[in-house]
Amino acid sequence: MIPQSPLVDSHGRTLRDLRISVTDRCNFRCLYCLPETEAAANFYRDRWREKEQKPIHHDWKPKNEILSFEEIERITTIAASAGIDKIRLTGGEPLLRKDIVTLVRKLSAIEGIKDLAMTTNGFLFPKYAQELKDAGLDRISISLDSFDKANFKRLTGRNGLEEVLQSVQVAKALGFDPVKVNAVVIRDINDHEIEALCQFAIDEEISVRFIEFMPLDSSKAWQKEHVISKKEILDRLQNRFDLTPLTSSNASETAKRWSVNQSKGELGIIAPVSEPFCGHCNRIRLTADGQIRTCLFSLHEHDLKPLLRGNTTDEEILTALHQIVAKKEAGHRIGKADFVQPARTMSCIGG
Ligand code: GTP
Ligand code: 5AD
Ligand code: SF4
Repeated sequence: MIPQSPLVDSHGRTLRDLRISVTDRCNFRCLYCLPETEAAANFYRDRWREKEQKPIHHDWKPKNEILSFEEIERITTIAASAGIDKIRLTGGEPLLRKDIVTLVRKLSAIEGIKDLAMTTNGFLFPKYAQELKDAGLDRISISLDSFDKANFKRLTGRNGLEEVLQSVQVAKALGFDPVKVNAVVIRDINDHEIEALCQFAIDEEISVRFIEFMPLDSSKAWQKEHVISKKEILDRLQNRFDLTPLTSSNASETAKRWSVNQSKGELGIIAPVSEPFCGHCNRIRLTADGQIRTCLFSLHEHDLKPLLRGNTTDEEILTALHQIVAKKEAGHRIGKADFVQPARTMSCIGG
């Protein structure tokens, strides 16, 4: 690999982190992402109640629009030549992508990729964990928003709590380090569980991160009143736990972190709504259908498919990447009068 000049945006940020969504499909239907029924989509809006059980139809991208492994590998190789050294595989649910282990093996072998991680809902993880580890996956983040069976079902639309808890154990046993658990906190839905989730970090010696609810749900039902802010989470947890702030050498980290009760467990809070971290953002995203998104909240995408499927050389694709990255947004506009929610939801963008 001949090192090329790094991908730098017009705000002076050097991009190192490429997040690749490998499928837009998911086997869960989380309230904050892709709710299944109108009742779930409007979990705090009474006025839709009469339509309660009406299912919502989700259109998935047709197969021929989804990037092949070869196409993903090619983009990653080109991006790695320009300084991308961290990859996170997301979805939808990445473990629904057929032969995902093969993709992990291909990507982990790319020169320059120092860190290969995955975000999963955990339902299928125990089945693939060993193979993923052997194929070169370095890190895993598992979503877990509730310990209560009924609440888990309400939040995710599925009965999957046991499988997800098992996936935390499997990830630990296989030596994934760190094991991160992500919990999106929504007022009156699961905020009463933050203490239990924090205790879980202590007991399991893992990292539990609370994420402020962002306006990326498919039902566009997000309201700021339902965001539990970082300050509120911290105030509550400080009443119960001894929290010691941890410093980080990585300015682009999304989470502020604390050690809890002098244990090996760690608390993280990701506060994109109340304390945006866009100024240090080093991330770009590739959707399953080959669009580059320069921000989670981008209103415009850049289609790489015509380049990948035409006679374009690697050099030309790299030039295109530089041009795209130059247009990266300064940051999101959540809470501002001119905020517009992107058409695509987290299930397509990948978190
Ligand atoms: P690593 O540093 O690779 O471990 O990633 P991470 O700590 O950012 O964790 P992860 O990728 O699991 O992200 C956790 C959550 O943070 C995501 O699911 C999003 O909800 C949120 N998040 C991640 N990146 C961004 C971002 O660029 N902008 C915003 N607004 N939120 C983000
Ligand atoms: N707000 C915040 N985080 C979200 N995620 C998905 N939707 C949202 C949202 N609306 C995060 C969750 C999920 C991961 C893939 O993305 O942590 O597990
Ligand atoms: Fe980066 Fe956009 Fe996320 Fe801000 S909202 S941190 S600019 S991806």
